Amino acid sequence: MHTLAPVVVSSDELPPSVRTNAPSVLFVDQSGQLGGAEFSLMPLAATWGARREVLLLSDGPFRARLESLGVPVSLACEASVSGIRKDSLRLSWLAALPGIVRQVRTIAQHAKSFDVLFLNTQKALVFGALGKPLHRKRIVWYLHDVMSSEHFGPLQRLVVRWLTRYAVDHVVANSRASAESLITLAHCAPEDVPVVHNGIDLEAFSRADTSDMATLRRQFGLPENVYLAGLFGRLASWKGQHIALEALARMPDLHLVLVGSAMFGEEAYEKALHEQAARLGVSDRLIFAGFRDDMPAWMKAVDVVLHTSTEPEPFGRVIVEGMAAGRPVIASAAGGVPEIVNHGCNGWLVEPGNPAALAEAIETVRRAPDLARDVACRARDDAAQRFSVDTYLNRMTSAIAGCAARARARKA
Ligand code: UDP
Ligand code: GLC
Repeated sequence: MHTLAPVVVSSDELPPSVRTNAPSVLFVDQSGQLGGAEFSLMPLAATWGARREVLLLSDGPFRARLESLGVPVSLACEASVSGIRKDSLRLSWLAALPGIVRQVRTIAQHAKSFDVLFLNTQKALVFGALGKPLHRKRIVWYLHDVMSSEHFGPLQRLVVRWLTRYAVDHVVANSRASAESLITLAHCAPEDVPVVHNGIDLEAFSRADTSDMATLRRQFGLPENVYLAGLFGRLASWKGQHIALEALARMPDLHLVLVGSAMFGEEAYEKALHEQAARLGVSDRLIFAGFRDDMPAWMKAVDVVLHTSTEPEPFGRVIVEGMAAGRPVIASAAGGVPEIVNHGCNGWLVEPGNPAALAEAIETVRRAPDLARDVACRARDDAAQRFSVDTYLNRMTSAIAGCAARARARKA
């Protein structure tokens, strides 16, 4: 059913850092779940120095998080539209057409009282940009995806190409890899797709009071006195948890904790992981921890942080978080990851989808604790220098303000 309700507007007070010239912004995100795109929107919406609101196309825990930060939130849910998956075919789009039309109108109606429309996900892009003739607002799109055929169906790619050319005023990509995929798809000029990497709350990840590993493991019911690898992130086949399980089978002394849940209809994959673990005989060395709110503490409870995506990861917040937590990180060398990890310097890169290479890298890190500590130290410094929330907010603010200023100049 179609709903549009100002859910809770906890406070319309603006943060102390009010930038008087900042344009008012309607942020739109399709998900109520807590994924990386949603985590990246939180500090931006929370600190935006002018009137702002987040319009969510699905309800979920993201709404409560935003409200707890004092961000006004509205909901525009359409069950038929929420069911469309990013790689889905033409027919499911057709069946959802009436719902799509309603969401396009709702977003446009909302956008009318703001200067800028900031679209944070694929569906937000499509519906927000399709409504441009109705709202006529400047559109900023934060691209969080590698727009390749592995990630997206042909129809979605076609629509994105068209909207990028004709409706979006300013694109910002979460990595060079995401930017390049869009440049290839839409044939836009490289300078028209600037990159703003996500910022991570480094203080939360480096806080000293969570550094006693033994206490943390006891607290979380994790095995003590074992070498423990951690894989953090939602359970999804392209995130490659099955690759980590295969590596686990190759290393009889290794234990592994999977932190994260199946968020976007990936329950069958979660079940398959349990079956795979039983088949490989590794269930007694594997912990499914589910979704956790306290990522810094969980990361500090492990000896090594793994990232195992089998398809190019657009950015990979969990990699920077592992670095900020001061843990050695082994990550899949594809997508935006090489922009974060410099092999042998601040982490290790391995070939995606290769369990033997992953097991070998884990063994390297385990056998050389001094080297692992040095690399992790360098990684923490790097994360602090390159991926702070302040840097992220400054760059994003300039991008949004620049887009609005160009609109004002055009009108004058
Ligand atoms: N995350 C979390 N709890 C979990 C699993 C993940 O808070 O149990 C957070 C994690 O800290 C990170 C985000 O979810 O900030 C995942 O972002 P990432 O960019 O790594 O991947 P995405 O899911 O967006 O593809
Ligand atoms: C998306 C991507 C992830 C990225 C996040 C934040 O969810 O899958 O790689 O880190 O957005 O930009």
